[in-house]
Amino acid sequence: MNESLVIVGTQFGDEGKGKMTDFYAADADVIVRSQGGDNAGHTIVFDGDKYALHLIPSGIFRKGKINVLANGMVINPKTLIDELGLIKKAGIEDPSLWISDRAHVIMLYHIVMDGLSERIRSGKPIGTTKKGIGPTYRDKVDRIGIRMGDLLDKGRLNDKISMALNYHNRVLEAFGEEPFSASELTERFFAYGQTLKPYIKDTAKLLDERMKIGEKVLFEGAQGTMLCIEHGTYPYVTSSSPTAASVPLAAGVSPQSISSVLGITKAYSTRVGEGVFPTEFDDDVARKIREKGHEYGTTTKRPRRIGWLDTVILNHAKRINGLNYLAVTLLDVLSGLDEVRICTHYRHGGRTIDYVPSSIERFYACEPVYETWPGWDEDISSCTSYEDLPDNCKIYLNRIEQLTDLKIALFSVGADRKQTVVLKNIF
Ligand code: IMP
Repeated sequence: MNESLVIVGTQFGDEGKGKMTDFYAADADVIVRSQGGDNAGHTIVFDGDKYALHLIPSGIFRKGKINVLANGMVINPKTLIDELGLIKKAGIEDPSLWISDRAHVIMLYHIVMDGLSERIRSGKPIGTTKKGIGPTYRDKVDRIGIRMGDLLDKGRLNDKISMALNYHNRVLEAFGEEPFSASELTERFFAYGQTLKPYIKDTAKLLDERMKIGEKVLFEGAQGTMLCIEHGTYPYVTSSSPTAASVPLAAGVSPQSISSVLGITKAYSTRVGEGVFPTEFDDDVARKIREKGHEYGTTTKRPRRIGWLDTVILNHAKRINGLNYLAVTLLDVLSGLDEVRICTHYRHGGRTIDYVPSSIERFYACEPVYETWPGWDEDISSCTSYEDLPDNCKIYLNRIEQLTDLKIALFSVGADRKQTVVLKNIF
């Protein structure tokens, strides 16, 4: 049995990682989120209630577990305080939450800058979530970022904000935006720091101690491999690396401490925002999938673009993340279709290729090559085993395993915790 499990998205985000994290959290001692910020959104459904979280790991609803926001994250403290209020209403009065003092803070100017960055892209916006993610990571790399630990010391915070505003205010004014006052921001963010103080810690050190005594750790990915700043569809990506490879760095744990990696894939594909999406289609079938799968962004409410399952992308994610297993989500959404398609290759310039091109221009020029399989009519949302599935659905799952050479450890047939069918115990 493994001691740590990484959950990663294999597609463009929104694969249902939140539900899977919530599921495995039952067996974990500690649940860690290591990158991204409130651009992510997780919907968890249990006992008839639905909770949408953007920052706090999905393990928070399991009693007695420690939930960590690690150093690689960018945190909007106001969103975090609101989420703490939400989970309090759900009966979690005193959550075991650790927030890394090294995590970077999303400041108000980062949110304005996010909009500006989109404006200067000459009509080619990324379609960001406008949460300030990119500008916050930009300041981190530029070494003018504010870290969660800075919120606890008013003098230090004021100095750092003043330094950052030396740059940001000039840019904002040049674009006709209002400049920010260092003293007002200091007051506001120091107050956030006071509310969050009990949770702000050196999480990497504490995590190491927990791992040394054999506690089980679940790492919850946000976004998906195709949105990775290194291996995604650059520049139509997020500003962090949502891969298993990034977890040790972004959580401050040793690379050797990762035992196993589970890749989450939808039974089809979706994408929000701009960027290449080879298997995208937009007809009545796509609309049916969008409605049935509630394919609207948790964070921005934007309708998601719909596509068939793409195993070229799955195999790319397998290689980058070192996937050991797959989990297939939203399988129930495909019920009632005459046929289902799987992309196995791309055609590019008269050649057939089986990899994701590094150049976005080449990727746009790729045509998907499909296999078409018969669909199934049966409602599978109450299936509790593989044997319960209609034959054509079994064939579809088997074909995914063959094309990726990965075992499906579990699949999901509905949003509720209970609508999860385990095929192999991996944690
Ligand atoms: P940003 O992360 O807000 O900078 O947005 C960059 C791109 O990543 C945009 O296309 C977003 O729609 C996409 N994105 C960011 N977070 C998520 C997510 O959690 N799910 C799906 N797409 C996301």
